Amino acid sequence: MPVFLKPFLQEINHPLCLEKKVRFSLWREDLNHPLISGNKYWKLKYNLEKAKELGKSSLLTFGGAHSNHIYAFAAAGKEFGFETIGVIRGDECRELSPTLRFATDCGMRIYQVSREQYRNKTDASFLAELSEKFGGTFIIPEGGSNELAVKGCYEMIQNLNVSPDFLCSPVGTGGTLAGIIRGKEGQSKILGFSALKGGSFLRNDIEDLLGGEVFTNWEIIDQFHFGGYAKFTPELVSFINEFKKQFSIPLEPIYTGKMIWGILDMLRKDFFPENSEIIAIHTGGLQGLKGFEEKGVTFS
Ligand SMILES: Cc1ncc(COP(=O)(O)O)c(C=O)c1O
Repeated sequence: MPVFLKPFLQEINHPLCLEKKVRFSLWREDLNHPLISGNKYWKLKYNLEKAKELGKSSLLTFGGAHSNHIYAFAAAGKEFGFETIGVIRGDECRELSPTLRFATDCGMRIYQVSREQYRNKTDASFLAELSEKFGGTFIIPEGGSNELAVKGCYEMIQNLNVSPDFLCSPVGTGGTLAGIIRGKEGQSKILGFSALKGGSFLRNDIEDLLGGEVFTNWEIIDQFHFGGYAKFTPELVSFINEFKKQFSIPLEPIYTGKMIWGILDMLRKDFFPENSEIIAIHTGGLQGLKGFEEKGVTFS
């Protein structure tokens, strides 16, 4: 898969960094591809290669109406010549969100299921049923997270050829963090900022994605989810708008906005020792802003 723009490190000269004597930069993965951006690019890369190797002509995955993964998956299918099927939680697609409009424009077929059915998204019998219904389609899990995604995110982080004291990433389903943990073993402390409530089950999911291999260089930070997945406050929206004004870097309120808020809060509370170098991965997800804007939340 061609990378659109090679990611680069952008230093964040926030007054707090000066006061606390730390260096803080963002690794701009959000710019790697115009549509399959951020961690999505890396989570899909080896999945698409595998599907091709197996001679599959169609791909199927799971997601919600505003999912960054669904958006990137549909774009990747179009770009690389696969039919795509999105299994979407029923009550979320009565009226198409901007994400689903984009995905269907790319040719993705929506297979609407109830919330109850959607909960079976990892059950072998449900997956077998879907595979049969869609002619042996190649199935990629929700969020794209499987061992091929971990392999892609391992490669993503190999491209960052510095090893800071702290390397931060947002966490949803855990595939991205698992790749980063493996890629920076013994080099950096990895902090995963949970976008959802319940960091402890995420720990188990990440351990599973790491295939039972034990790593001790990581931690889940779970106090900056703002009440849960996709929950936000007016303060978070203002923070994101202010951050863009100050540093010309767009963030969004589900993943990267919460992570950067969390890093600055931890900096304020002296979590990071003096002279630390902190790097955070900008994992993209900016397509999601359209869905918020349609609901009347304004991002500058
Ligand atoms: C922008 C963004 N950042 C971070 C994540 C979290 O990645 P993961 O699900 O691999 O934990 C996601 C979800 O895939 C995302 O869309």
